[in-house]
Amino acid sequence: MQYRHFGKLNISPSLLGFGCMRFPLKGEKDSDIDRDEAIKMIRYGIDNGINYVDTAYSYHGGQSEFLVGEALSDGYRDKVMLATKNPTWHVKTADDWDNFLEEQLKRLKTDRIDFYLQHCLDFDSWNKFKELNLWEKAMKAKAEGKIKYFGFSFHDDYEVFADILDTYDWDFCQIQLNYLDTDFQAGLKGLEKAQSKNIGVIIMEPLRGGKLVHNVPENILAKFRDYPVQRKPVEWALRWLCHHPGISVVLSGMSTIEQVKENIEICSREDMIPGCMSEKELSFINNLANEWKEMKQINCTGCNYCMPCPNNVNIPECFRAYNYAHSVRGDAHDVSRQKYKWLTDNFADASNCIECGACESACPQHLPIIETLKVLHEELIK
Ligand SMILES: NC(=O)c1ccc[n+]([C@@H]2O[C@H](COP(=O)([O-])OP(=O)(O)OC[C@H]3O[C@@H](n4cnc5c(N)ncnc54)[C@H](OP(=O)(O)O)[C@@H]3O)[C@@H](O)[C@H]2O)c1
Ligand code: SF4
Ligand code: SF4
Repeated sequence: MQYRHFGKLNISPSLLGFGCMRFPLKGEKDSDIDRDEAIKMIRYGIDNGINYVDTAYSYHGGQSEFLVGEALSDGYRDKVMLATKNPTWHVKTADDWDNFLEEQLKRLKTDRIDFYLQHCLDFDSWNKFKELNLWEKAMKAKAEGKIKYFGFSFHDDYEVFADILDTYDWDFCQIQLNYLDTDFQAGLKGLEKAQSKNIGVIIMEPLRGGKLVHNVPENILAKFRDYPVQRKPVEWALRWLCHHPGISVVLSGMSTIEQVKENIEICSREDMIPGCMSEKELSFINNLANEWKEMKQINCTGCNYCMPCPNNVNIPECFRAYNYAHSVRGDAHDVSRQKYKWLTDNFADASNCIECGACESACPQHLPIIETLKVLHEELIK
């Protein structure tokens, strides 16, 4: 495993961090984690060099923290830096902040959280954070030893990100970055800003929720095939992040043991170090990303933050079906219509939307979900 610098903190996190939002499931529901398999995956990761584990109060319908608490028993807790997040959108009063932290310590079966994040800050929640003076709460929790480092995860425009970084002396931050999202949200500009302030950066959605590896459009696959150096899409994506010295940890959400093994193998290679890509390779990825971004796709990462919909619409699956239809495979439209029919048969298709708006306020990508559902329904129902 390769280990990295962490801004102003004197620690060496593993390049690959374990993201605890994509565990294998036993049933249909996101909360129905395949417990034995998920514990096996986490422990395998730790036994093979991963020392940073990232969960959150809300992941897997609230079950992720319980699972991580179990996985880290039997001596595993002391082998990792444990990160979790205060559920910003549930915090109505300053006391709520304390109560969530206490509950999370219990769920995680621990007396301290190494990296505690204010989850999903954007313009509105950042203002609420300041109004409730939650910074003071965090500093108190730090002084009491309940949390070691305090940071935030972020989903809004660069200007909001810069304001947050400039307002307090944060220990670290977590941003969405991958080679398709260089100018999206904090983006590369945000990474540089954090680096200039010597703040360690954790990366989320390195594979854009799987989009960079599954159902990759034919024209993009052809470009990979034609390049003189042969690498799988997953390696290109992880390598591109590894190249940037300001990145401390790349969190990967992994849903099978094979993915854990593969990502560990990639992040353990000798040349997976800052500056590992040549100018030619960077330019190749940049051109490929520009071509990909021009294709008609919905930028859903399948994070499930919008779920469950009160009217049973399976939003991420509707978007997945649409994106598949536009992946330039010969049979793509037919396969997508079949997938969509399955959603229709289960009353989970877009036509069930009653436009309540709950999903849009929860979506970290700020997608116009309601309008997009209408468009895709017209196309896929034919
Ligand atoms: N703070 C926040 O607001 C926030 C938001 C999002 C994420 N996060 C954190 O960041 C972590 C990473 O982000 P993410 O899970 O959203 O997205 P991600 O890591 O970009 O994508 C995860 C998906 O990529 C696929 N994958 C991973 N390794 C693979 C491999 N070797 N080969 C093929 N496919 C592979 C899997 O898809 P399949 O399961 O479909 O096979 C997996 O579910 C999360 O788990 C979470 O801890 C935080
Ligand atoms: S707006 Fe539509 S899709 Fe979104 S939560 Fe409400 S009913 Fe569900
Ligand atoms: S629509 Fe938004 S919240 Fe829902 S899964 Fe997609 S990116 Fe996540």
